[in-house]
This record gives sequence, C-alpha cells and structure tokens, in this order.
Amino acid sequence: MDKPFDGAISRFRDEEAPEEIRRMLHEAGKDGIASPRFPYPAKWKRKEYAAAMADLQIELVKMQAWVKATGQRVVVIFEGRDAAGKGGTIARFRENLNPRGARVVALSKPTEAEAGQWYFQRYVRELPTKGEIVFFDRSWYNRAVVEPVFGFAGDDQVARFYDQVAPFEKMLTDDGIALFKLWINVGRATQLERFLKRENDPLKQWKLSWVDVEGLRKWDAYTRHIGTMFERTDFDVAPWTVIRGDDKRRARVNAIRSVLSRLDYPDKDAQAIGALDPKIAGGSEIWPR
Ligand code: ADP
Ligand code: AMP
Ligand code: MLT
Repeated sequence: MDKPFDGAISRFRDEEAPEEIRRMLHEAGKDGIASPRFPYPAKWKRKEYAAAMADLQIELVKMQAWVKATGQRVVVIFEGRDAAGKGGTIARFRENLNPRGARVVALSKPTEAEAGQWYFQRYVRELPTKGEIVFFDRSWYNRAVVEPVFGFAGDDQVARFYDQVAPFEKMLTDDGIALFKLWINVGRATQLERFLKRENDPLKQWKLSWVDVEGLRKWDAYTRHIGTMFERTDFDVAPWTVIRGDDKRRARVNAIRSVLSRLDYPDKDAQAIGALDPKIAGGSEIWPR
C-alpha cells in the first residue's frame, strides 16, 4: 500500500524523532498510553466509557431541546495540536443531536477573498442564530498557533489578533452567546503514534496533511505559541478548558461534561453528567509547560 507523503511519518520516527519519544512509542502496550506522563497508564475501560457516554447523550439531547425552546446561542470551539482528537470529540457531541441546529464549522485555509477581509469576518458569518449550537473544528485561534508556527501570518497580524480577540470575545458573550473554548492536549509520543496509524490506514489517510508532516519538526515552536495563547486569551468571560486527550475516551466524556455542567437547562441530571475528572480536565493551569 502506498504511504502518503512517501512514508515521511515513519521516516521521521526512525531518523529524527528524539530518542525519548521513540522509546515511549516502543514501550506503549496495546491499551497503554504512549505518553508516560499521562496520569493513567491505560485507556479507560470500554464498558465504563460506554455507560458514561450513554448518560451524557441523553443530557445533550435535553440541552439542545432547551437551546431551541428558549433561543439560546451556543458556540463550542475545539482547538488542539494535530491528531488531538478534535474531530472525534465533535462527532460524539453531535451523535444524537438534531443536525438542524447543531452545525460543525471546519473552515479551510482562507481563500484570496477571505485573506483580504478582516481576520474574524469569515468566522463571524458562521456564528449561531437563536436556537443553534455551532461547533468550531479549529477557529480564529489558528492565528495564535498554526499560522505563526508556519509563517502564514506575520508578527504584525498576530499582534493585531491579540489586540482584537479580547474585545471580540467580550462582544460575543455580552450579546448573550455562550462561548466555550476547549483545548485538547496530546503528548508528543501520542501524536506521533496517531500519525503513524493514519499513515497506514486507508480510511484515515485523508486526515494527514502537509501541515502535519512538516509540523512533526515544529513541536517546540507549537509549544511556545500555545503558551502565549493561554497567557493572553484566558479571559474571565471566555476561559480555556484544557482536556488531556491522550486517552480519547476520557477526553470525550470530560469534554461533554465540561460543556453540560456550565449550561442551565431544565431537568438537568447532575448524576448523569458526572463529575469532571480533575486529572483530565481543568483550566489552562493544567496545560503541561
Ligand atoms: P486539519 O488539522 O484541520 O486537518 P491541517 O493540519 O492541514 O488541517 O492544517 C491546520 C490548519 O492550518 C487548518 O485550519 C488550515 O486551514 C490551516 N492552514 C493550512 N494552510 C494554510 C495557509 N496557507 N494559510 C492559513 N492557514 C492555513
Ligand atoms: P507530554 O508527553 O509531557 O507532552 O504529556 C503527555 C501527557 O501527559 C499529556 O496528556 C499531558 O497533559 C500529561 N502530562 C504532562 N505532564 C503532566 C503532569 N505533570 N501531570 C499530569 N499529567 C501530565
Ligand atoms: C484531530 O484529530 O484533532 C483532528 O481530526 C485534526 C487533525 O486532523 O489532526
């Protein structure tokens, strides 16, 4: 089978990856977690995950009924490094929701026309109307992380982004939009493991892009820009929630919990929602610096 990008991911593992990362990959067992600093040694048991998720799905449906009945507007932003699990988490949020009223926005790189507009303009167009929940798979935070890492945006553009993002998010929340910002975190060994799977799985190869392949060498640049993003955009009106994503099951359940626990819909069942796992989800202080 042809490997996309000519086997660049396996070549990176064999020839360039730090020795420590190669060792972590080698030592991860079948259900083990590749990044040993993850607070659990293995994935959550499938049965426990399925039970928690089944309860959460019912709460999500109740939440959407309330959003529609009362004309709420909800925005959930998903951010994270490549292969963090953004797409899969969004899919679990939406599994049982009425797609009319629960949209995903996953914008491609800006067109020429978009590149000539105010940076936030194409995102503004996608904001919800009353009764809608919008899931952003990546967002305006591209300008804080991937764009400076790759030089798609210059220093002046990034500086202007930081000047504007605070008043921008304040306007949204002042206007009554519920804005959630989730950062799904992955360790370097976990990310490389997932890229290797994508390289070898014909169903997953579409997820690999030039940005991912080049990004392998840019881990530290990403880390620097992510740190700056947390320092400068953890607003009282729109704080970050950080979710450790090395175990997708724990990440998905805690992501849904973090959103549901902050919305006030009728017949909310706190027991069904369950408690956030403080080892998995928290504020930006849990991001490993
Ligand atoms: P994804 O992780 O969303 O599948 P990629 O890893 O390929 O996509 O790209 C990461 C992000 O960088 C995407 O939001 C993409 O639109 C953006 N991007 C890629 N190329 C450019 C570019 N030339 N200018 C601005 N943004 C870009
Ligand atoms: P790393 O390999 O350090 O990038 O991190 C791998 C995983 O372990 C990520 O999910 C991190 O969030 C998590 N992690 C890193 N450092 C710590 C820590 N001190 N305590 C708990 N979890 C951590
Ligand atoms: C993810 O898994 O985080 C998303 O699907 C983004 C990506 O393709 O890396």
